[in-house]
Amino acid sequence: MSQTDIEPLDVERIREEYPVLQREFDGEQVVYLDNAATTQTPDRVVDTIADYYRQTNANVHRGLHQLSQEASIAYEDAHDRVAEFIGASGEREEIVFTKNTTESENLVAYAWGLNELGPEDEIVLTEMEHHASLVTWQQIAKKTGATCRYIRVQEDGTLDMDHARELVGDDTAMVSVVHVSNTLGTVNPVSELADIAHDHDAYVFVDGAQSVPNRPVDVEAIDADFFAFSGHKMAGPTGIGVLYGKKHLLEEMEPYLYGGSMIKKVTYEDSKWNDLPWKFEAGTPPICQGIALAEACDYLDDIGMERIQHHEEQLADYAVERLEDEGDVEVYGPPAGEKRGGLVSFNVESVHAHDLSSILNDSAVAIRAGDHCTQPLHDKLGVAASARASFYVYNTREEVDKLVEAVDDARQLFA
Ligand SMILES: Cc1ncc(COP(=O)(O)O)c(C=O)c1O
Repeated sequence: MSQTDIEPLDVERIREEYPVLQREFDGEQVVYLDNAATTQTPDRVVDTIADYYRQTNANVHRGLHQLSQEASIAYEDAHDRVAEFIGASGEREEIVFTKNTTESENLVAYAWGLNELGPEDEIVLTEMEHHASLVTWQQIAKKTGATCRYIRVQEDGTLDMDHARELVGDDTAMVSVVHVSNTLGTVNPVSELADIAHDHDAYVFVDGAQSVPNRPVDVEAIDADFFAFSGHKMAGPTGIGVLYGKKHLLEEMEPYLYGGSMIKKVTYEDSKWNDLPWKFEAGTPPICQGIALAEACDYLDDIGMERIQHHEEQLADYAVERLEDEGDVEVYGPPAGEKRGGLVSFNVESVHAHDLSSILNDSAVAIRAGDHCTQPLHDKLGVAASARASFYVYNTREEVDKLVEAVDDARQLFA
């Protein structure tokens, strides 16, 4: 489908499902541009949560009573729905529900990395990794004696793929790469990186926290061995994340957490693990959150992921253009018109990002300021912090205009 064939979103209608967007602070209607941190939740997902607690609420896998059976079926089916959403043909067996992307990273780092890595192994990351992946692999490297290496980020915010080819070699055991950078907005060539890794018998972990909510994703087309994302960034609830893993890899891996539900047989001497994915879901899992995440997948598919991607790209392009027109604003990541996710990080020359964010808050414009959990990348950019505006299905060009007006006001205050 060409870009011009893509039907625009009916944003006004979409906004009706989000009462929070009607909130006003000191007479100003909120402009919510902090979606890369957490998106708002549409009524139908909120209703799913409320209905679950009103009508069903029971523990799963254990009870023989009707409520438990209903909860179990809905919770198990939610795994299949999520699998379908990201193109995992192994269905529920390849989908582990975790707390968030961070826990999904830790699960693989501990369950696979701690057992498989040694001093001769290398873990290849990128300079734009989120701390969820960077800190986790760094710590596993310290525990196992493995070495972390980082693929260079170039001036234009893209990865240096020649450097990637140099770094990934026969000592590489894992390539862990962010799909869409939460700071630069760069869309990384994850499928190409997977090919490079597989040529050297290394595995690939893709951090999809900023891609699954915003664009069509097919984990099998990418050929990711592991893939992680969070429910709260895709119109779903907090408290749920997803780890996709190729079935044979999850089968070979030891559990990460031990306890109830993840076992098949227990004696005083030893235990046998449950089938996938329950082997990795110890204790009472995020039942309601899982069911609500499946509803969020339905919601996003009803809108259409291509349309969502197109909408966000247009808003991001417009924001980059308008901010760059300001003269004293430095925008990070790929230039206007280049492939980027629906977010823009920037700095205004005379205003610290934290001051900017709190002044924007006075105009009810909600953005993020800080290092966005990419401290080493900010060090490389030569700044301690940046401001970030990130978009979702309910944002409009008028809201980008409000952002830019509020940036102007802030600049005048500091002039
Ligand atoms: C690219 C990326 N990876 C990982 C994470 C961590 O997500 P969570 O806090 O849901 O674990 C985030 C969250 O901002 C992110 O943007």
